[in-house]
Amino acid sequence: MIIQDEVLRKEWIVACRADEVKEKPIQVHIMGERVVVFRTGDGVHAFKDLCIHRGAALSLGCVKNGHLVCPYHAWEFDASGACVHIPQLPAEQAIPKKAQVTAYGCEERYGFIWVNLGGKDAPWFPFPEYEAEGWRHVVWGPQTVEAKPPRIVENFLDVGHLAVVHEGYLGVETHTEIGDYRVHRVPEGIRSEEIEIFQPDPDGSGQAKHVYYTYEIARPLTVKFVKRDKETGQRMSILLTVRPQDTATSVAYGVISFSYDPGLSDSEITSFQDMIFAQDKPVVENQKPEDLPLDLQVELSLKCDRVSIAYRQYLKELGVEWGTA
Ligand code: FES
Ligand SMILES: [Fe+2]
Repeated sequence: MIIQDEVLRKEWIVACRADEVKEKPIQVHIMGERVVVFRTGDGVHAFKDLCIHRGAALSLGCVKNGHLVCPYHAWEFDASGACVHIPQLPAEQAIPKKAQVTAYGCEERYGFIWVNLGGKDAPWFPFPEYEAEGWRHVVWGPQTVEAKPPRIVENFLDVGHLAVVHEGYLGVETHTEIGDYRVHRVPEGIRSEEIEIFQPDPDGSGQAKHVYYTYEIARPLTVKFVKRDKETGQRMSILLTVRPQDTATSVAYGVISFSYDPGLSDSEITSFQDMIFAQDKPVVENQKPEDLPLDLQVELSLKCDRVSIAYRQYLKELGVEWGTA
């Protein structure tokens, strides 16, 4: 079933990791659409995964001379989605104008392939850490979740659960209180003030201390926090982005960035993140209602839920319907 959401259909949605798309085309489900993602000498491309001739999945085909070749009768499509060769047709005969597949916006950025079902004019989220000198970035995901994207994103923006769900890792049970903070409108979206969190070992030195989280909401399904150590000035950020795969399943990905050397390999960093995510997953998969209530009277919020409240207001303003109520 296709997910009808006019707002999300015009967003850049994460399709897969960039390293998953090599010479073979791959199939990805985005908002219930079957999409083929493939790479040519010019970069990456995404089409509806459906051949106009007899409905074959183009993702079972191959890439030849910069064209996507259908696995069934070998019709060839160029990067715009136009059919440029039909082997069964006599050479002097023109290719029918209707021989075309739907091409979507497709870009490779930040270690991922992004697809925009509605074109390519949607704004990108700001990610200054990625461009900044001296930062290291680790791509994380995919992680499949049986929940709708807004619940998953809000869990990432939720500061109060750190010392509960992630006790011993991202918080400690003796420091569950959250001090007051505000959230502000910025040109890109919403940003929180720094929120003080006491963590058992924030930098791997074994020393428990306070760190400061700033949450940023810049797109409906892509958010970020930056964690700052006031003593050392070290920063670490995690960008989270979620793909609505189909009506039951979403897929989360992230970029974990460090302004310093954390002394860990990429796989140690992603394993830690997998472990943290595994703690959140059962909670998120069992929240009711599954759709995030945008009416703030429906659930009971505290002052410390200001980031979540801002996220709900933001989704409401944008008119996001999928996964909201
Ligand atoms: S189904 Fe694609 S070429 Fe025939
Ligand atoms: Fe969490």
